[in-house]
Amino acid sequence: MCGIVGYVGSVRERSDAGDLDGEYCALDVVIEGLRRLEYRGYDSAGVAVVADGTVQSRKKAGKLANLIAELEEHPLPSTLTGIGHTRWATHGGPTDANAHPHLADEGRLAVIHNGIIENYAELKQELLAKGVKFASETDTEVAAALIGDLYRGAADGDITKAMQLAAQRLEGAFTLLAVHAEQPGVVVAARRNSPLVVGLGDGENFLGSDVSGFIDHTRRAVELGQDQIVTITPDSFAITDFYGRPAQGKEFEVSWDAASAEKGGFPSFMEKEIHDQPAAVHDTLLGRSDPRGRLILDELRIDPAELKQVNKIIVLACGTAAYAGMVAKYAIENWCRIPTEVELAHEFRYRDPIVDKNTLVVSISQSGETMDTLMAVRYAREQGAKTVSICNTNGSTIPRESDAVLYTHAGPEIAVASTKAFLAQITAAYLLGLYLAQLRGNIFSGQIKDVLADLNKIPEKIQTVLDTTGPLRELARSMKDEKSVLFLGRNVGYPVALEGALKLKEIAYLHAEGFAAGELKHGPIALIDAGQPVFVVVPSPRGRDSLHSKVVSNIQEVRARGARTLVIAEEGDEAVREYAEHVVYVPETPPLLMPLLTTVPLQIFAAELAAAKGFDVDQPRNLAKSVTVE
Ligand code: M6R
Repeated sequence: MCGIVGYVGSVRERSDAGDLDGEYCALDVVIEGLRRLEYRGYDSAGVAVVADGTVQSRKKAGKLANLIAELEEHPLPSTLTGIGHTRWATHGGPTDANAHPHLADEGRLAVIHNGIIENYAELKQELLAKGVKFASETDTEVAAALIGDLYRGAADGDITKAMQLAAQRLEGAFTLLAVHAEQPGVVVAARRNSPLVVGLGDGENFLGSDVSGFIDHTRRAVELGQDQIVTITPDSFAITDFYGRPAQGKEFEVSWDAASAEKGGFPSFMEKEIHDQPAAVHDTLLGRSDPRGRLILDELRIDPAELKQVNKIIVLACGTAAYAGMVAKYAIENWCRIPTEVELAHEFRYRDPIVDKNTLVVSISQSGETMDTLMAVRYAREQGAKTVSICNTNGSTIPRESDAVLYTHAGPEIAVASTKAFLAQITAAYLLGLYLAQLRGNIFSGQIKDVLADLNKIPEKIQTVLDTTGPLRELARSMKDEKSVLFLGRNVGYPVALEGALKLKEIAYLHAEGFAAGELKHGPIALIDAGQPVFVVVPSPRGRDSLHSKVVSNIQEVRARGARTLVIAEEGDEAVREYAEHVVYVPETPPLLMPLLTTVPLQIFAAELAAAKGFDVDQPRNLAKSVTVE
């Protein structure tokens, strides 16, 4: 959940010299990296540099801006070795004392950490018995003290060796970075169950929780494996396992640049990412079918014979990604006739799920680092299931540990509230469903071609929705003092209702609930009182059975009890007009694909309302972009 940056360089003159002290230095690189990684956590931030045989650090509770103000008041020397951290608190509240870096070895060693050290209490007792004193409540300080103790002892003054020995003793999930006053020009890191990428420069090297930590400087990166240690100097990087045996990383080129991670003129990353959605869907479809309308998913490297044997699919994910999974269930069952369950990854892992070699587990994760999802995927693999990951982040852990991956091409998603990743996940899930149907011969090739043609029209239709949001934004602003908003939907509209409610909770801190519209009469209708706003996602009148008329009845039911009905419906659906205080029309599209359009107004509604309340839309309180703890 935290953001981590490390840097070692060898030259001071560069055209992109930073502005902290007028001279290019480690601090510039580290602060810039933290700015890009702040979405991972923003409870506190801190930096440490190695200068003139000392380690010097500054840290501050609150957002990165507080640390920058502190650095202006109490500057650090300009040097070429540094580390930086932005925190999402786990052990100990968000205070200055608990902020990272944590120091050890009498202030000569600085350590930053992402993750949770599960055996920290036991290690702390051991270190206390040796006379070590602690200044914070964190597990990180215990890790720092352990590394410091080993540095002076068994590692004999070798920071890489000290990190290896410490990593052997630590349990849980961690990315740890350390610098030592006696070893300028060296940053050492350890990784277990927590993300870390190396950036390769020319006479300088970088470490980051993800590539955005150094994307301003290089697009050449190395992905580390599980349980590895890496030591970077300005001209080298060396990878070992925790026992010092040489190991390999995987080099790759980052396909996006720094500009893709900028706001591009929008007031927030969330607004920008909502507007990126036509491209996100388009890019996710790109190159995945041939002109005859056949799916080509080369990257899905599971033997087709094995895929034909699949008799159950389990979709595992959390939060918004789980709602994408719910949409996937409707599509996969419809096209492939394979029973499909969707389960929150953290619930799946800790019961006794029935999984075997004929089960296909599909995980969905934007970051590819969500610990709950990762643990569930590992468990499913242990039980013999085949695992496919739908993921937006190249080189992240979940795809690496899955049998196959279908990348979404949404580009970097920075805002904590997921938007474009959601639409890209749904798109990828449709592709997977169609591919399985093609492979197993469940539907005619002509039908697949038709669905692909409809999918290819979606980006333009999303753009139409985006171009006509004026009245919706006005409505959102007028509702900034509401205390509660309800969302109803049926079939694929149900996960859309859940997602609409989640967006509002997340960024506007407003009570919001999503319900299956048919469930209303079984209890939730008691919530309806005069003036209660209710969003209703109405299925297409061209859809199957009586779904449309059932939802129109639901609108009437809540309206009869005084609700303000706010309706999302398909263009031309005049039947809803007389029961709706406000209607947002989206272009006609096949019912199964509707979530790609009906979600968009709900995202805009939440973003506009939260902004009207004066909240930080990109960094909502208590949350972090990437949830790398269980
Ligand atoms: O990175 P992931 O897709 O695995 O993240 C899963 C959830 O934590 C995430 O979707 C979360 O619910 C979002 N903040 C929702 O906007």
